[in-house]
Amino acid sequence: MLYDNHGRKIDYLRLAVTDRCNLRCFYCMPHEGIDFVPRSDLLTYEELLRLCSVFSELGIRKIRITGGEPFVRKGIDSFLRELSKTPGLEELNITTNGSFTANKIKLMEEIGVKSVNLSLDTLNRERFKEITRRDLFDQVHKTYELLLKSSMNLKINMVVMQDRNIEDIYPMIELTKENKVSVRFIEEMPFNGTADQGNESFWPMKKILDHIQSEYAIKKLTDPTSSTSYNYQVDGYRGSFGIIAAFTRSFCGSCNRIRLTPKGDLRTCLYGKGALNFRDLLRAGASNEDIKSTLIQALGKRAKDGFEAEKNRGILNPASESMATIGG
Ligand code: GTP
Ligand code: 5AD
Ligand code: SF4
Repeated sequence: MLYDNHGRKIDYLRLAVTDRCNLRCFYCMPHEGIDFVPRSDLLTYEELLRLCSVFSELGIRKIRITGGEPFVRKGIDSFLRELSKTPGLEELNITTNGSFTANKIKLMEEIGVKSVNLSLDTLNRERFKEITRRDLFDQVHKTYELLLKSSMNLKINMVVMQDRNIEDIYPMIELTKENKVSVRFIEEMPFNGTADQGNESFWPMKKILDHIQSEYAIKKLTDPTSSTSYNYQVDGYRGSFGIIAAFTRSFCGSCNRIRLTPKGDLRTCLYGKGALNFRDLLRAGASNEDIKSTLIQALGKRAKDGFEAEKNRGILNPASESMATIGG
């Protein structure tokens, strides 16, 4: 079992397999994109599999694949197949933008993916185009419908933003009426790849909840351990909804996660800077024991919450990276 210096059990790895993405969501990166990592700097699939296998020996039980958009990386299908065989791994999940995920559903079911989180900020084609700067709403919506019918659990991630998609909150809640889907409303974070922190569009959790309660009778659900979302249900509805206080950071006390960025940086907090680089370590010939002791050491110096991690960034504070660089 892995524990950090604050006594939190660490059993969840978020693995960003690429920083590339076919969309340009404005809260994640500028329209011209970012300086994408050169392919030779990415962790190779072999390196990723090795790290995951060693991490799982240490107690990682759940892996979520993120990006960028995971499915833009070549060879991802066979990588996922191999990864799903990792001894000790109990849960493999994927966060995707859904634009070409429809033909990956069969694969995901076959290898036992438990849950797919689909990024979808609006149910309106025009607003989708404005937010993502791409005209791919129909493809994403098709993926949504197919995922609903699949054997996997489905969550929708909607980043809530003033003047962008507030009118989508109620229609998103309505999706949960007949469908066993969980819609998560996410506070916007300042990871848009520019110095502009985007504060003017910010809706905190309380405002989102008040907005929903002014229209619906809701009940609080019990949250799973280490959940990022506070979960609720509209009386009589089949699905549920949650609010992720990603900027308010009220769930850090039970944080069970570490992150590997596409080029192999270990992030022990979303808001922190990289603790160390595993790619360099591997390419310098590290043994599995070296990998283990390096991870254990890094967890011994973990910030207590996202505020402390942010402060420790020093001159890199405030953060202006793209979410695609970190992996979400
Ligand atoms: P589950 O496994 O379903 O609980 O997924 P998740 O919520 O951990 O992952 P997902 O990739 O769907 O992320 C949803 C939102 O939560 C994104 O905006 C993430 O950046 C945010 N998020 C995930 N983990 C953390 C975290 O540790 N801290 C903060 N502040 N936000 C997080
Ligand atoms: N703030 C909050 N959530 C974000 N995501 C990407 N960028 C941001 C941001 N700046 C979300 C995506 C995706 C998840 C991994 O992170 O919508 O669903
Ligand atoms: Fe964990 Fe940092 Fe996220 Fe808090 S902000 S939950 S400490 S990763």
